[in-house]
Amino acid sequence: MARIFSGIQPSGDLHVGNYFGAVRQWVAGQAVSDAVYCIVDLHALTLDIDPAALRARTVDTAIGLVASGLDPDVCTLFVQSHVPAHTELAWLLECTASYGELRRMTQFKDKGKDQESVRASLLTYPVLMAADILLYDTDRVPVGDDQRQHIELARDLAIRFNSRYGDTFVVPEAAIPPRAARVMDLQRPENKMSKSTGTPLGTIAIADSADEIAKKVRRAVTDTESDVRYDPAAKPGVANLLELLSAATGEEPDTIAARYHAYGPLKADVVEALVELLTPVRARILELSDDPATVSAALEKGAAKAGRLASPALDRARAAIGLTARAG
Ligand code: AMP
Ligand code: TRP
Repeated sequence: MARIFSGIQPSGDLHVGNYFGAVRQWVAGQAVSDAVYCIVDLHALTLDIDPAALRARTVDTAIGLVASGLDPDVCTLFVQSHVPAHTELAWLLECTASYGELRRMTQFKDKGKDQESVRASLLTYPVLMAADILLYDTDRVPVGDDQRQHIELARDLAIRFNSRYGDTFVVPEAAIPPRAARVMDLQRPENKMSKSTGTPLGTIAIADSADEIAKKVRRAVTDTESDVRYDPAAKPGVANLLELLSAATGEEPDTIAARYHAYGPLKADVVEALVELLTPVRARILELSDDPATVSAALEKGAAKAGRLASPALDRARAAIGLTARAG
């Protein structure tokens, strides 16, 4: 069975961008692949974070994933910092990556540009991500479009390490969904919807109530025209609504657009589709939030399993690069 691996930062509430771009593929993948999913708490430390909030969000993220359909008895679900092999392999890969290629990553340039003092970890972030992926002999990485460049780097590092030190890593491939791979902020449709930098009114959380969803979609920025067409460059707000409806219904955005002659009815149908999709997810989140111990226990089991899965690749990499064997 193919191995799939992916990760998500516990940096805020899961939103429909995460859902359509990534999590929905993860749920589908667990049934047909050997699936490993990771809540990447170490990655969340690259930006300012409040320790108490990080602690709470780590469990909340796990709850959101399980409520969305991940079954911890079917896939392996765990927290990155619970498996020390991730940081250990990251060092070996940092010794394989170059400063120049990390500096060129668009996410580093974007996230670093408004900060006075950029953390060194923001630069090395994609190397830790490569370690996450390569530890599990991953074939496919289901992610949204914003991670394309990072997966490319993970591939480059795997290929370089293999050619320098001998065949060690499986070279992974990105799996990016055909629709809604980049859901935009409803208030600023030129920016992607984001847990950490999105606008509150422009971000639909998977835990939002029907009223919240309706309010946010009704106030979504469109444009001063009134015709409904799928044209992401000229009409980003309208295109985003069409993408959301397309992701929810499976119909092509152009086909959907042809049925509407005004923005109001389009928005009403987007609300209906999202409410139908998210109502059961929200109910499960409320249920699981009453019993966080169950999810924490599943994460503990997941970490033990992930630790076992990760150790052969780490041992191979250590031996290949010339580190001596350690006891135990
Ligand atoms: P993050 O929230 O950055 O930890 O991302 C977790 C997963 O969700 C990654 O696979 C991202 O590519 C995906 N993702 C995040 N934001 C969006 C978005 N606005 N549209 C589509 N996918 C997204
Ligand atoms: N960098 C990813 C994001 O921000 C999260 C991530 C960390 C990840 N490690 C990963 C995704 C490994 C896929 C595979 O979305």
